[in-house]
Amino acid sequence: MIVNKMKATAVAPANIAFIKYWGKRDVGPNIPLNNSISMNLDCAQTTTTVEFDPAMKLDQVTISGQAAGKTETERVSRHLDLFRKLGKINHAAKVESTNNFPKGAGIASSASGFAALSLAAASAAGLKFTQKQLSVLARQGSGSACRSVPDGFVEWAAGDSSESSFARSIFSPDYWNICDVIVIVSHQQKKISSTEGHKLARSSPFFDTRIKGMEKKVAEIKKAMRKKDFSSFGEIIEAEAINMHAVMMTSVPPLYYWSPETLEIIKSVIEWRESGLEAYFTIDAGPNVHIICQGKDKSRVVRKLKTLRSVIEQIIIAKPGKGARLI
Ligand code: DP6
Repeated sequence: MIVNKMKATAVAPANIAFIKYWGKRDVGPNIPLNNSISMNLDCAQTTTTVEFDPAMKLDQVTISGQAAGKTETERVSRHLDLFRKLGKINHAAKVESTNNFPKGAGIASSASGFAALSLAAASAAGLKFTQKQLSVLARQGSGSACRSVPDGFVEWAAGDSSESSFARSIFSPDYWNICDVIVIVSHQQKKISSTEGHKLARSSPFFDTRIKGMEKKVAEIKKAMRKKDFSSFGEIIEAEAINMHAVMMTSVPPLYYWSPETLEIIKSVIEWRESGLEAYFTIDAGPNVHIICQGKDKSRVVRKLKTLRSVIEQIIIAKPGKGARLI
C-alpha cells in the first residue's frame, strides 16, 4: 500500500528587481500597477517543507529553526488556506523554512519564502499546477514571490485580474553572464515593510508620472537585454531605482530607506564607471545596495568596495539562478 505522506519540500530563489513593483492596483491579491523585470539569485534561496497532518489542530511554522511570530504565522496560514481549499484538505500543517542567506541580510525573504511555500504546499496537498498557475498562487502570498517561480530573468505581467497577473521567464539563467554583488551595510530589519510602503506610493506627487513611464521603460530594458547591451541596461536600472526611491521619499509620510553608506556606494559606483569599471546599482526597500556588473568584473567590484570608508557588513555575489523547484 502506498501511504500518501502529504509532505513535500521545495526550494526557491530570492530575486532582484531591475524594473520595480511599487504600488498596487489591488492590495488583497497583490495586483501591481506595472509590469516588473527581475533576475533570480542563484545563491540566495529558501528551502521549505510543508506537511499536512490530520493530528494537528493549528499550523506550526518555524523559520531557521525558530518558531515564527504570530503575524508571520498568520500570513503563512492564510496562504496555506488557498491550498487547503483547492485540495479539499482540513488539516493543519507543519511548515519548516530555512534561508541559506543570513536573516535580515536585506535580501527580501518574502519572495523566496512564498514561492517555496507555494510549491511545497501544492505538492503536499497532491495538487498539480502549471508554472503560470503556481506564479499566480505565489503572488497572493507576496507580490514579488511570483517572480521567484520561473527560471532566470523574469517578467511579471501586471494584468488586471488575479488570473492575468503572473510571471514568466524571458531569458534562461545562462543567457547572460551578469552578477549581482550584494553589499550589506545593515542587517537590521527595516522599520516600514514593503507591504506597508506599497500603500503610501500613491501619496507621492510623482507616482502618476512614474506609472505613465513604465510601459516604455519595460520595452526599453527588454530590448537592451535582447541585445545584451549592458550599458543601456545599466542606465535603465539605475534611473529606475532612483525613480522608485524618489517616489518613496516624497510619499506622505516619507520613506527614507537609505543610510549614509548607501549614498557613499551610489557615488562610488558612478565614479568607478567614469574610470572604466562598468557597474550599475539598484536598491530595494532598504539601505543595502545591489551592484550589477558583468561576470568578468565582479572581483574588481569587490576589491573597490573594500577601499570604501563605509562599514560593509557582508558581500554576497549572486549569478542568475533557477526558479522554484521540488527537492
Ligand atoms: C521594493 O513583494 O515585498 O522589493 O506584495 O506586499 O509582499 P508585498 O510586497 P513585496 O514588494 C517588493 C518591493 C520591492 C520592489 C520589487 O521587488 O519589485
